[in-house]
Amino acid sequence: MRRILLFILPILIIVALVFTIFGIVQVNFEEGRLMDDLQRKAKTVAESAELSARYILTNNDLRLANRLVESFQKRERLQGCVIYDKDGNVLSITERISGWSKEDKPYLKEILNTKNPRGALEKFKEYSIYSYVLPVLDDGKNVLGMVEVVYDTSYVFNTLTELWRHISIALIILVVSITLIMVLLQRRIFILPVLQLTEWFQHFQRGETDVHHHPIAKEKGAFGKLASEVEQIALSLRIARKTISDEAQVRVQKEELWTETKLKDLVLAKMGENALYVVSNREPYMHVIEDTTGKARCIKPASGVVTAIDPILRACGGTWIAHGSGNADRKFVNSKNKLAVPPDDNRYILKRVWLTKSEEEGYYYGFSNEGLWPLCHITHTRPIFREHDWQMYRKVNQKFADAILEELPAKNPFVFIQDYHFTLLPKMIKEKQPNATIALFWHIPWPNPEIFATCPYQKEILDGMLDSDLIGFHVQFHCNNFLDTANRFLESRVDTEKFSIVRAGQETFVRAFPISVDSYMGEGIERRSAEIEELSKEFELDGKIVAVGVERIDYTKGLVERMYAVDRFLEKYPQYRGKFVLIQLAAPSRIHIKRYHDLMGEIEEAVEKVNWKHSDGNWKPIIYLKKHFSPEEIKPYYALANICVVSALHDGMNLVAKEYVISNKKLDGVLILSRFTGAARELTDAVQINPYSVEEFADAIKSAVEMPLEERKRRMENMRKIVTENNIYRWAGNIITELTALKKS
Ligand code: F6P
Repeated sequence: MRRILLFILPILIIVALVFTIFGIVQVNFEEGRLMDDLQRKAKTVAESAELSARYILTNNDLRLANRLVESFQKRERLQGCVIYDKDGNVLSITERISGWSKEDKPYLKEILNTKNPRGALEKFKEYSIYSYVLPVLDDGKNVLGMVEVVYDTSYVFNTLTELWRHISIALIILVVSITLIMVLLQRRIFILPVLQLTEWFQHFQRGETDVHHHPIAKEKGAFGKLASEVEQIALSLRIARKTISDEAQVRVQKEELWTETKLKDLVLAKMGENALYVVSNREPYMHVIEDTTGKARCIKPASGVVTAIDPILRACGGTWIAHGSGNADRKFVNSKNKLAVPPDDNRYILKRVWLTKSEEEGYYYGFSNEGLWPLCHITHTRPIFREHDWQMYRKVNQKFADAILEELPAKNPFVFIQDYHFTLLPKMIKEKQPNATIALFWHIPWPNPEIFATCPYQKEILDGMLDSDLIGFHVQFHCNNFLDTANRFLESRVDTEKFSIVRAGQETFVRAFPISVDSYMGEGIERRSAEIEELSKEFELDGKIVAVGVERIDYTKGLVERMYAVDRFLEKYPQYRGKFVLIQLAAPSRIHIKRYHDLMGEIEEAVEKVNWKHSDGNWKPIIYLKKHFSPEEIKPYYALANICVVSALHDGMNLVAKEYVISNKKLDGVLILSRFTGAARELTDAVQINPYSVEEFADAIKSAVEMPLEERKRRMENMRKIVTENNIYRWAGNIITELTALKKS
């Protein structure tokens, strides 16, 4: 619209200007003509009355004078007539103008002296009139008196006003017509080809092959040339991608350890020009308004999904579609709700999907986190299934499906769906785009069939999930649970050899892929000794044994159990009073859910109780820091910790355990790890615990504290080897390799 205005406005201004000048000239000319006409008429009338006036003035015939002046009253536009004697006194005057006194007419004297007639515009009361005064002379050229003829000029002004009105109407009609013509022309000449070009390019981008039949491809002239240039660029891009992908294939086979580059090469080799489309509920970068400054800042949410998937997209590029949940998120997206991330090193695209409060309430807080989350975690928290939440969950899944479908290219896109928030998405996507390859990764445990049976929407959930080509879990145990569940509730064939589920011609493979981390948490810590020193000073940690915990505040994380384990440890082994500190970093999470809200109180109460019981002077055993910590802020805590405690009651994997291992380059740390985490299957050199057993937990703290350096080193080395080798790039690489192999078989 602005562009059209910019284009049309100057033309309209010029037209209006020319038309106004023309109007002024026209009106001036008309005014001159009318006044001329008036003057001529007045002169003729005065001259026609001259003879009678001479007789009247010579004979001083007042009666005749009155008759003469009254006769003028009947004439059109004539206001009246006045007869003066030779001294300028009124002899007779038409009644209509009888109030016009001699004093208002200083010009009479001059006419008597010069004996010349005079015509001019005058004011009578509030009217404008035209007066023509003719001196009446005898044969000897002596002045006998004067005749004054008075005309009404209002018709001149009325005529001119009417003329202006016509000019204005003509101008308006002209402006409207020009605007209409311009808009139509601009649409035809400019906008339509641009729209066609955009549409054509979108088809081209999606990899459609019949783009040559598009009207723009046949266009001649400048747009045709532009289209052909764009086509050339797009083609070169494809060829370049293809070449890179061939080279990548060769490199993938050579490299041993999985790195960012190796994954990038694999993606290019396996998927060619098809980019990666990741979907998750939690976004990797969130813009929030800071309470203290009121300014927006970008944070990385505390989330296993973000920790794991962000390095993959950084490596390979692609598009990540997620809920825009930050309160300043809308300020940072373009018209398509997209932005390049990370903000300081743009590597991939984040597309934000907006949810209303009631959608978020029903889909995220309700069905996902009060229903599915407790259903899948064995923590004795009852799942709540509300019909309304389920309806919102379906609606939001559809919303995400639409947002994804808008992005996908026409040919064989790869969509990688994360987690329990999107069980219906595979079906919704496949319905519209059957050639899409879909992998769904389930980041939390999968329950056994008896537990899953309590979910009222079990069939629809399984039905939605099983349109995926591959479903991944962290551990084999959860894969088995899933196969059992599908076997029990669906009419399907479970192939226990191939580990797949066949239903209505669609085969879904189920595999375990233990998720991991990259090396980020171990990077650059050497340069931050000042920061570590500062923390040590602030919390008076010098000479103390420091344990650290890093969690979202969630009932699955065993935080209350942890506090009481510290309590029991100090009770049982009082020699460590004043010498042991647990620093707990705790990010508030899902706080609108009552259970989470209550949990915050429970943890704070436990911290307070334990600290009150054991504190001595300045020392207290638990430092509880409740706020969101960025990965950069977490690094120094890992660095100063002698022990990391992971006491989850149930966890799909738990990446904090792996992050601590990767960060402990000095090999002097000990990991206390719950047996009920996925990580416990790989990290067998951790001190493993049952967090429900406070005695075992307390003793594990003691053995971690007292573990000789040699043993710590040996264990940490083993664990670091496992995490370094089975890093996040291998995880993604395995999924992609498996998927492409399975699709071919
Ligand atoms: O790792 C499991 C998980 O549910 C992720 O899906 C999620 O991103 C993370 O925990 C944090 O939870 P939320 O996104 O609800 O804050």
